[in-house]
Amino acid sequence: MLGVNNIDVGYNKSRVIHDMSFKVNPEEILVIMGRNGMGKTTLLKSLIGILPSTSGSIKLGDQEIAGMDSYQRVRSGIGFVPQGRMIFPSLTVTENILSGARGNVAQSTWDEIYALFPVLHEMRKRKGGNLSGGQQQQLAIARALVANPKILILDEPTEGIQPSIIKDIGRALKEIRNMRKIAIIVTEQVVSFMMDVCDRVLVMERGRFIHEAYRDSLNSDKIKALLAV
Ligand SMILES: Nc1ncnc2c1ncn2[C@@H]1O[C@H](COP(=O)(O)OP(=O)(O)O)[C@@H](O)[C@H]1O
Ligand SMILES: [Mg+2]
Repeated sequence: MLGVNNIDVGYNKSRVIHDMSFKVNPEEILVIMGRNGMGKTTLLKSLIGILPSTSGSIKLGDQEIAGMDSYQRVRSGIGFVPQGRMIFPSLTVTENILSGARGNVAQSTWDEIYALFPVLHEMRKRKGGNLSGGQQQQLAIARALVANPKILILDEPTEGIQPSIIKDIGRALKEIRNMRKIAIIVTEQVVSFMMDVCDRVLVMERGRFIHEAYRDSLNSDKIKALLAV
């Protein structure tokens, strides 16, 4: 589905992501764990093209996307939910969702989004800035889904969100995968959330992967220990 090979990413002269390679399989939920400052956001920004990689290859299906601008990558099927959610506070919920759309939105897409996140339907005429953190996160996910991505990428979606809503977000990600048959990449620091949603986990440290585990052979204590170092 997505194949990343030997990419380097950084800021000016400082390299953050070092010769990184990984794959995401169709309909897989891949969780990338790592402490603050380890390079999770930098990696995701290079996948979506906000911060281009300086070498290597990024393939979405058979298509090389590493040289494309962000808008072209979105058009090719990458959906992105940024860290901090970045919703438009003065636009309504509906307007925020539409800001992610490519052309007209089918009624079936609205129905699907509101079935996933009923609270967004209740609040559809409210301003985004008046929603709670958890509701804004749901809105940011809805805004990415409305473009019908082939792969959905989320950067620390549970950050600053209360535990009961974290459960809801986990449930929503699994529902999205099952309904849309798409792959999902999500960065995280919350181990319980990772245990809830992942098919596979990669642990990142200083721009490199130091551990990989599939769901059925996953040891959460080991991952906690790696994150505690
Ligand atoms: N805009 C930037 N300019 C320079 N360095 C940055 C910038 N953003 C992040 N960094 C550095 O890149 C490293 C990785 O940061 P980041 O990708 O945000 O990590 P994470 O998302 O895992 O917390 C850190 O050392 C951070 O200081
Ligand atoms: Mg980050």
